[in-house]
Amino acid sequence: MQLARRLELIEPSPTLAITARANELKAEGKDIVGFGAGEPDFDTPAHIKAAAIEALNKGFTKYTPVSGIPELKQAIITKFQRDNQLDFKPNQIIVGTGGKQVLYNFFLAVINDGDEVVCPAPYWVSYKDIVRLAGGEMKLIHTTFESGFKLSPHDIEKNVSAKTRVFILNSPSNPTGATYTPDEIRALAAALEKYPDLLVVTDDIYEKLAYGTDVLNIATASEKLRPRTVVVNGLSKAYSMTGWRLGYAGGPKEIIAAMDMIQGQSTSNPTSFSQKGAVAALNAEQQCVEDMRVVFEKRRDLAFNLLSNLKGLRVFKPQGAFYLFPDIAGLTAAPGWPDLKKRTGETDTGKIFSTGLLNEKLVAVVPGSAFGYENGFRISYATSEAQIEKGLGRVREFVDALWA
Ligand SMILES: Cc1ncc(COP(=O)(O)O)c(C=O)c1O
Repeated sequence: MQLARRLELIEPSPTLAITARANELKAEGKDIVGFGAGEPDFDTPAHIKAAAIEALNKGFTKYTPVSGIPELKQAIITKFQRDNQLDFKPNQIIVGTGGKQVLYNFFLAVINDGDEVVCPAPYWVSYKDIVRLAGGEMKLIHTTFESGFKLSPHDIEKNVSAKTRVFILNSPSNPTGATYTPDEIRALAAALEKYPDLLVVTDDIYEKLAYGTDVLNIATASEKLRPRTVVVNGLSKAYSMTGWRLGYAGGPKEIIAAMDMIQGQSTSNPTSFSQKGAVAALNAEQQCVEDMRVVFEKRRDLAFNLLSNLKGLRVFKPQGAFYLFPDIAGLTAAPGWPDLKKRTGETDTGKIFSTGLLNEKLVAVVPGSAFGYENGFRISYATSEAQIEKGLGRVREFVDALWA
């Protein structure tokens, strides 16, 4: 079957592939511990579900305006004022089918063939493929374990130039959990301000999941960047609403109008009754968000402690999101490594490790190469403490056996 050439530009989502393989093994009756999926394990809070059910019962089941209902736009405007001290008008807001679709609309709206998009690595898997589908060229800035997987202003100066069209910021980060402090954000903003034609897109989807640091939005930090920054956020992670498919953005009205036009010729409006649930989520008391954050912080500490002190692993303690991203370059020196490489048939370090771990210990993690960092793997600790203890106990056995 002949398919379009654009398919050569992209790869299937590796996180979804790992989850599919883990589900296959589960279906065979294997006792899998899944650390692959990037989704909170909590149920959506009851008041949010109630609002959507009420909307359904009242017949709110028809098309809505493409970029979202006015009531939800107002709730988003209030959220941006309350949490980020950012003032937007309704024509500066778009609601889409998840943060992913909003990002997709954004890149289709601003990128021409060959335009350069600068992105720190490790990065969230979909940025690369979305940028490529839009015709852009990804330029990665590789961060290191030593720098806490963060960029310095010097990295910006070295890698961003007058020909860069978009800079992507994601803090707290998927996959590392790295979270810039307010001072670090101000320093990055100062470096980016020097490029007057540069657009900034800040993906704030993990904004509410930060541990021990304030999260400052780069548009809040910099008046100069504000008119050319698009702030993307969504309901999936903060409110445990991944399946509702609700994301949004605030930004310059010309870009938002272009994104609206693209959305109008693809998905049209996000689901009507999901939007009513989102109104309830954003307008109600925010205690449920904090309650989930506290649980995640406890799990982070548990998972971090269990993974620390394993020979050959360096574990970075993240300040946000719900991931750990150990560096495993040191494991390649283990006596059992060459044989593991043979058994898995893989060549890159993260894939050798994660394939072996899944096949031999029934623990699903995502190889670092999925995020542009070969010598690592990602675990999502958005699962119960019992699963964390069980799964990471198996990781310890797996690693110990490589050194035996
Ligand atoms: C960094 C980042 N951005 C955006 C998204 C998109 O989330 P959604 O489309 O569910 O809003 C995700 C989901 O995993 C993510 O990790």
